[in-house]
Parts: sequence; C-alpha cells; structure tokens
Amino acid sequence: MSALTVSEPTQLHLAKRMSRLGTETAFEVLVRARALEREGKNIVHLEIGEPDFDTPKNIVEAAVDALYLGYTHYGPSAGLPDLREAIADDVSKSRGVKFTSDEVVVVPGGKPIIFFTMLALVEEGDEVIYPNPGFPIYESMINFLGAKAVPIALREERDFRLDVNELASLINDRTKLIIINSPQNPTGGVLTKNDIYDIAAAIGDRDIMVLSDEIYCRLLFEGEPFSICAVNGMKERTIILDGFSKTYAMTGWRMGYGVMRADLAAHIARLMTNSNSCTASFTQVAGIEAIRGDQSETERMRLEFQKRRNVFVNGINQIKGFSCRLPKGAFYTFPNITQTGWPSKKLADALLDEAGVAGLSGTAFGAFGEGYMRFSVANSVENLQNALDRIDQWTKKNL
Ligand SMILES: Cc1ncc(COP(=O)(O)O)c(C=O)c1O
Repeated sequence: MSALTVSEPTQLHLAKRMSRLGTETAFEVLVRARALEREGKNIVHLEIGEPDFDTPKNIVEAAVDALYLGYTHYGPSAGLPDLREAIADDVSKSRGVKFTSDEVVVVPGGKPIIFFTMLALVEEGDEVIYPNPGFPIYESMINFLGAKAVPIALREERDFRLDVNELASLINDRTKLIIINSPQNPTGGVLTKNDIYDIAAAIGDRDIMVLSDEIYCRLLFEGEPFSICAVNGMKERTIILDGFSKTYAMTGWRMGYGVMRADLAAHIARLMTNSNSCTASFTQVAGIEAIRGDQSETERMRLEFQKRRNVFVNGINQIKGFSCRLPKGAFYTFPNITQTGWPSKKLADALLDEAGVAGLSGTAFGAFGEGYMRFSVANSVENLQNALDRIDQWTKKNL
C-alpha cells in the first residue's frame, strides 16, 4: 500500500459502560433552541435550570482580587481550608447540626458530589433508590456504575412528595443508597419535616447511606428547610450535596460541595486528586465571600423567583389543557399536560418548533415524568408572559 493512500478511520471501540451513560436533556434542548435562533427564530428560554441573574458584585470582585493576589495555583484536593471552614460553619447553622471542616469537600459544582459519592459507595449489583421524575444525572450514574436503579415515583396528588410507605416497600438488603432532593428538580416539591422523619424511620438502623441533594435549600417559598442529617442517628449516614450555582447565581463558576462523615470525605478528596486535582483556587476565595458576605442579593433573587412562579402558574392554569400546582421551592414549574392529549416529548418539541418556547418534556426526568412538562421560571416576567401568550396561541390553533 502506498504511503499516500488515505486509510479508513479505525473503528471506535468504546467501553461497554458508555452505553449506560445517560444525559441531561436541558443542554440538548438549549443547543436545538440556539440552532433555531441562528435560523432567525425568536425563542423564549425556559429550558435550562439556572438563575438569569448575574453573580452578585461582591463575589465577582472577590474573585478578581484573588486572581491578583496569586490564587492561580493548585490547592488542596478537598478545598481551601478557609472555605471548608466557612462551609462547615454555614451548614452547621442552617441545618442545626455541628459540622467541622474535615467533613467538607469542595468540588467543581454540585454534580461531582453525585458522581463521586456513587463511585465511592456503590458496587455493581447494589440498589439505589432515586426520585422519578428527578434530576436525570442520578439515574444516569446509577446505570453507569452497573447498579440497579430503583425509582420512587413522585406523584402530583402528593404535591410531588415521595410516599414513605412506597419507599419502605422498595428497601431491601441490596439497597445501598437512597437519594432525596428537596426542594426538588423538576417538580418544585418540598418534603415536610414529618416526611423526612418518616424516611429516616423507614431506613431504621440499616446500613444505608442517604444522598440528600439540598442544592435548592435556600430557594424555598414557605416554611423552613429541614435536612435529614438533623434526625437522630442520620448524620453519619447522610451526604449533603449543596453548592453555589443556584443560591448565588454562579452556575458557570463550577463550585459545589459535599458535607459528610470525615472518613468518607477523605475518600471523596482522593477521587478529586484523581480527577480534577482541585477546584479552581480563585473561585474558592470568591466562595468564602459568597458565604460570609452580604446575603441580601440571594434574598432578592428568591423573592423575584417567587413572583415569577406566581405569574407563570396563574397564567398556565388559564391555558387549555394545562394545569399546574404551585411549587413550594426551586425555580421550576411542572404543569400536567395530559388534557392536551399530547405526549410530553411531542408537545415539548412542538412548542419549541412552532411556538418558540423552549421547555422540557417531563420524560427528560424519568419515565414518571410522562404527562408533564418542566418550565423554568428563571426568566423575566416579561419573557414569561410572552411564553404564556405563545403557548396560549399555539393551543388555540392546535387543540
Ligand atoms: C437537583 C440538582 N442537583 C444538582 C445539580 C447540579 O448543580 P451544579 O450546576 O452545581 O453542578 C442540579 C443542577 O441543575 C440540580 O438541579
């Protein structure tokens, strides 16, 4: 064969586990919506789960100062000691349980805590119970690791709070981990204090860990947040996932954290050493300012999300075929669309292509999301109103 012959590309032999890896549809819909915009279409973006606000100025300034002060080097894998301490203090105060800095691991976003916790704890064949509809990365990671994904259905008639009797019936000797998420993505459901006590009682003294995804805990519209770590005997079995993305409008900074028993934290730090080395140092300095500095912007954003939620839920409830409960937390609405007569995915596609409104099919969050759509209300009242008008016009034409 001559050296000039162009050879066929060799076949790519991916590891089998890659076929088990899922995705987060919000990013795919965003790409489709952006492509439509490039064709000249106008789209209202209600698909992606991030605050539309800019990061508060004091936090940005702290990061800029940190860059000039030379926080441009590697840092400890588990996070800068001062940030770990700030997080331990903050979480101790908000959860009413004393934590120390060796129980904190700082990672690039909340997501890696899901990945690392499962890598550290879950073996092939173990069972992991997770909310469905729920954040799609849970199911993706469970499957990726060759564990058995056991969904617990969240139902509208219970305001999307899990049914503890049903949870108890799913627990068995192979259950390794239970994932809970409150306030919840995609439904905005919030577990009550009683629910959380009942979940702990259903677990009893079994050797089961709980990954408590509390990333929306400060985006609560009524009542006080309550963490399962505060139930007697649960602190040692809880991994709290929290972070900066949603509370401080810092999604692009990539910084989150896990709070857990110190021996597990040391292993999660080893996973950090093996993957990212550390979270970016100057962003961690800004994280200290986020936690210790003025909190008024966070409260302003929360009140704004509440106002937008009210506008959107009122509006969508007046549109034929849609009915929506008032979510108690986070910045999502999850209307029931069964009366449209359309399956969720087909409706989401049609609303994007024909009405210029990007939302997500409930099935992007698992099989139990059929019959629903998720619209984020992290957008201006004007844009939300525009989306409502477009959906209304579309339904008048098509239903
Ligand atoms: C329930 C839930 N957990 C975790 C995350 C991940 O957050 P981060 O962007 O900080 O990785 C998200 C983000 O959408 C989420 O909705």
